[in-house]
Amino acid sequence: MVKSRYNVAMIGVGDITTLHYRAYQNFSQAHLYKLCDIDKNLLERRRQEWGVEKITMDYREILVDPDVDIVEVNTPHHLHQKFVVEALDAGKHVSCQKPISPTLVEAQAMIEAEERNSGQLRIFENFVYYPAYQRAKSLIEAGDIGEPLSIRFKLGSGIFGSRWVPLQTELWHLMESEKGMGQAIFDDGYHKLSLAIFFMGEIERVKGFIDRSFKYIDEPGQLIWKYKDKNVLGSFDLAFSPNIFHKSAYYPCDERVDIMGTKGFIKLSGCTGRIRDEAPLTLYRDGQVVMYEDLDVDWQASFTAGIRDFPLALMENRDSLISARRALNILKFAYALIIAAKIGTEIAPDDVTDDYVRQILLP
Ligand SMILES: NC(=O)c1ccc[n+]([C@@H]2O[C@H](COP(=O)([O-])OP(=O)(O)OC[C@H]3O[C@@H](n4cnc5c(N)ncnc54)[C@H](O)[C@@H]3O)[C@@H](O)[C@H]2O)c1
Repeated sequence: MVKSRYNVAMIGVGDITTLHYRAYQNFSQAHLYKLCDIDKNLLERRRQEWGVEKITMDYREILVDPDVDIVEVNTPHHLHQKFVVEALDAGKHVSCQKPISPTLVEAQAMIEAEERNSGQLRIFENFVYYPAYQRAKSLIEAGDIGEPLSIRFKLGSGIFGSRWVPLQTELWHLMESEKGMGQAIFDDGYHKLSLAIFFMGEIERVKGFIDRSFKYIDEPGQLIWKYKDKNVLGSFDLAFSPNIFHKSAYYPCDERVDIMGTKGFIKLSGCTGRIRDEAPLTLYRDGQVVMYEDLDVDWQASFTAGIRDFPLALMENRDSLISARRALNILKFAYALIIAAKIGTEIAPDDVTDDYVRQILLP
């Protein structure tokens, strides 16, 4: 049933949800109605800071509440499937934070839960809503660079330059890294791989190298891929530099993207971090440089647009970025890169299975 205003409940009100909360401010189409977390102190703090009166430590109270329309799943990754499937089965719409899940079988279970229920599932990935990336996508679609030829992602990450992430948030990430799901490719890299598909389409095959820094960090890496059904190549160059001050209000990283076409090229600068004081988007074609200086460069803008897009999509009876199927493809892409680097050969994301991942990643 289409509504004019959707009540939202969050399962998990951890570190990233402060950016979700801001998106619900001054937005009449959705109301942040109920919060759930197993951390009692954090839950109480959010209640006070956000002014959301309904709180619970038991997620089942959210599922049985008829006034909840949308459930946001913002927990550690290994819990995504459980909450997503139960919320869809309880008749809710669900927006789950990226990545969809650690395994393909869990992702498939979520897709099936969406298929057997009336609620919509989207796997929230904010980068595809970042204003400079949205504008770049429109320019590409309008033919401004001609036929696309290649796309290159550059990620620099470090330790200093941004706020501190809470220790308990870091801990479960480190445990995940220990299982072979490194933060740079599987977790944060998910955003870049999502963009790679957003800009150019599905991936045919991949290869590359990934080294480790300080045991847990899956950088530096040099990764390449070929797109399906077109002559377009992609690459991802990432390096961890602990002594570089990565200026950011959010996480200490620096992102750059270059997209080459037959008639021109696009350069994208900054996203999570903002090291250089330059236009977020530059287009070169016909001997001229156009700088897009008017775009909102604050990373929060991608959360505000992305969080708001889900209730709007429900109202307009359309999908919201990113569907669970697309999210499963991003997961396979990430694992294909990790496996390819480990065994030193080419891999097709379509050939990735959970058994293959287990066999290669676990000692
Ligand atoms: N879009 C982005 O750029 C971005 C950035 C950071 C995190 N994320 C994603 O957001 C999600 C959460 O990450 P985070 O950094 O906020 O982690 P976090 O650890 O700070 O928050 C997770 C919260 O889930 C709660 N939780 C755990 N088990 C629960 C349960 N059974 N019931 C209710 N609550 C439970 C924890 O107490 C914690 O408060 C992850 O999927 C992560 O990948 C996305």
